[in-house]
Formats: sequence, C-alpha cells, structure tokens
Amino acid sequence: MYRLGRSVTFTLYGESHAEYIGGFLEGLPEGLTVDPDVIRGELALRRPSEGIGTKRVEPDDVEFLSGIKDGKTSGEKIHFRIRNTDTDSSKYAKFNRTPRPGHADLPALAKFKEHEIKGGNQFSGRLTASIVVAGSIARQFISQYGISVVSFTRSIGNTEDTDERDFNSALNSRTFPTRSCTDYLDLLMTQEILDASKDNDSVGGVVECITVGLPIGFGGTWFESLDAEIAGAVFAIPACKGIEFGKGFELSKLRGSESNDPFYYDNGVKLSSNNMGGVLGGMSDGNPMVFRAAFKPTPSIGKEQDTVDLELMQDAKIRIEGRHDPCIVPRAAIVVEGITCLVIADRIMRDHDGTGETEG
Ligand SMILES: Cc1cc2nc3c(=O)[nH]c(=O)nc-3n(C[C@H](O)[C@H](O)[C@H](O)COP(=O)(O)O)c2cc1C
Repeated sequence: MYRLGRSVTFTLYGESHAEYIGGFLEGLPEGLTVDPDVIRGELALRRPSEGIGTKRVEPDDVEFLSGIKDGKTSGEKIHFRIRNTDTDSSKYAKFNRTPRPGHADLPALAKFKEHEIKGGNQFSGRLTASIVVAGSIARQFISQYGISVVSFTRSIGNTEDTDERDFNSALNSRTFPTRSCTDYLDLLMTQEILDASKDNDSVGGVVECITVGLPIGFGGTWFESLDAEIAGAVFAIPACKGIEFGKGFELSKLRGSESNDPFYYDNGVKLSSNNMGGVLGGMSDGNPMVFRAAFKPTPSIGKEQDTVDLELMQDAKIRIEGRHDPCIVPRAAIVVEGITCLVIADRIMRDHDGTGETEG
C-alpha cells in the first residue's frame, strides 16, 4: 500500500495482474456529493483511444465498498476497487530472466526477493485508474472552494503546442484523443504517435496542468510548499521524468528584471506575467498555478533491445510483444489532474484542522 497526504490521505493498492486495484480515501468531510458520472467521465479520459492506443481496454467499473451513501460521503473511509480482467501473465515470464529496459523489472528483482514479473506489477500504469477515481472525488471537494484543475498535452515527440493556454482553452483538450487543444495539433500529435508505432517504437511528451482559484497565500513552506508537494506527487506517476513550474528551466537563462512577475493594483494585487507558475515561497501568488510534467516514451516496445540474461549472466536481446501504448502522454493528462486535486484537497483540510505548519 502506498500513501499520499496527511489530512486527506489516499492509499493506493493493487497490481496490474492481481484481481483488483483500488484505494482508500480518508479525511474528506461528511456530506460531500459525489457524482459517479463525473468519475466515469474522467476514467474514460484515462483509457486508451482508438487508433493511437493499445487494444487492451479493461472496463473500469468502480465498486464503492464504504464511505459513500446515497451519493454523499458518509465521513467514513472511502474504499473503492476496480476489477482487473486482463491478468494473463504468461507472456511476461521471460522478463524474470531478461528484464525489460526502461521498466522497473531489474531494480524490482533486486529489491524484492519473491518478485515475479506479472504485467507491470505494482509499478503498472494500470494503478493510475485509482488515482483518477480518488482525484475525481477530491476535485468535487475542491470545486466548493472555487478551485479548478485541467491538464492538456503540451507536446508529443517533436510536435509542440507553442501557444499560451489559459484554463478555458486547455479545457478544449478533453474533446481530442491526444488531449491537445486544437484539431490541427491533434492531427500532428496523432501522426507522431502513429509514426513511432509503425516503427515498433514509442514516444514521450509533456503534460501541462493549470489550476485556477487558489487564493493568495494558499500552500505551505519548506517541505509543505505547494510546489514541493505537487512535484513529489506528480513524480510518483509512472514514467514521469521531469517537472517545472512556470517558465521553469528557462528562468535560469533570464535576468531578475526579466523573470520577476511585476505586481500592479486592480481591485486587489495582480501580477502582469506568470513566469513563476503562480507559486512564490511555496504559496500561491494568486496567478493560475501552471506546471509541466515530462513523460518518457513507453518503455515496452516491439523493437529489439539489448538486455542481460540474468541466468547465464551474459548479453541478450529482447523484443516485447503484447499490447502497449506507443504513447502514454494523453492518458497521463487526467492522472496529473487527479493527483493535483488530491494534493490541494489535503492542503485545504490541513489548513482547516490546523495540522499544517504555522511558523511565520
Ligand atoms: C497511464 C500510464 C500507462 C502506462 N502504460 C504502460 C504500458 O502499457 N507499458 C509500459 O511498458 N509502461 C507503461 N507505463 C509506464 C510504466 O508503468 C513505467 O515506465 C514503469 O513502471 C517504470 O517506472 P518509471 O518510468 O517511473 O521509472 C504507463 C504509465 C502510465 C502513467
């Protein structure tokens, strides 16, 4: 079991070839309306899209075992689970001897003495369905505070969306299979994915996430910084290899006079740019919080790769068959949204129950 949060905690369990994956969500107040259609809609965004995704389409039917009664939270621990239907591990047996480059096999075999490779085990992207469920409930909670979160695909391979995106234009991405913001970008990004797939290869990309409605001062300091907590949680998503807030790495090339976001007064303190991605000192500066998460290409590819035969202790070759997405970026977008909602919900409740740090 793996746990995120302090006041609103989310505990994730399961493996890709176990009977179930699922989670526990604790600490949300009683009486919150939970719309199952919203959860279903968000799970649909995580499923592979026809044409650019794997044909492994498992039904994501969520079963709530406790914590929700008559469509509302009861204040008890919310326990939900999703049945795995595609659990044939026979094709994976060879990876115990010849680990897949780019996947978790090698370190997992070294760390866990009883480890037997079955799908992606506990490292599988399959578990992100539970993040989407818990994140969707958290989203319904934080919306009461006027906070909304959306992600979209900023780039896939060498195709990049170079336009500035605000919350509403990012919302358009929900209608496109690649989660890009326009039909033209969707076409280009689809082509990137198809080109990689034709080559028995895979491609990565960048998800951008925009949060609006955070009041100035929302967040924490040091290890409870808003950006530190978001980054820690987003990095836990399998295949995430980078994260930056606002202009991120670009800022290192600027002068302070170019990077600072100047203040002005217009019915309150405003900022005339958003180079910092909405976070100063670990707290919201009132701008939309904007960050980007880089996802590597899917490790399982059909192209022949070098590996090692762990029994013979000699070089070997491997080719991975089966159904793997040539690009996981479009599916990761809703997972990034979900985990962001969970971190924000936790922060809200920590501020309510006084368990957040207080020193000025
Ligand atoms: C939504 C999603 C789906 C994924 N699907 C696959 C897949 O089909 N095949 C694969 O090899 N990796 C897939 N991954 C990535 C692996 O789970 C991940 O690369 C692996 O566990 C190693 O972890 P790391 O990349 O974080 O180091 C997926 C990740 C996500 C977020």
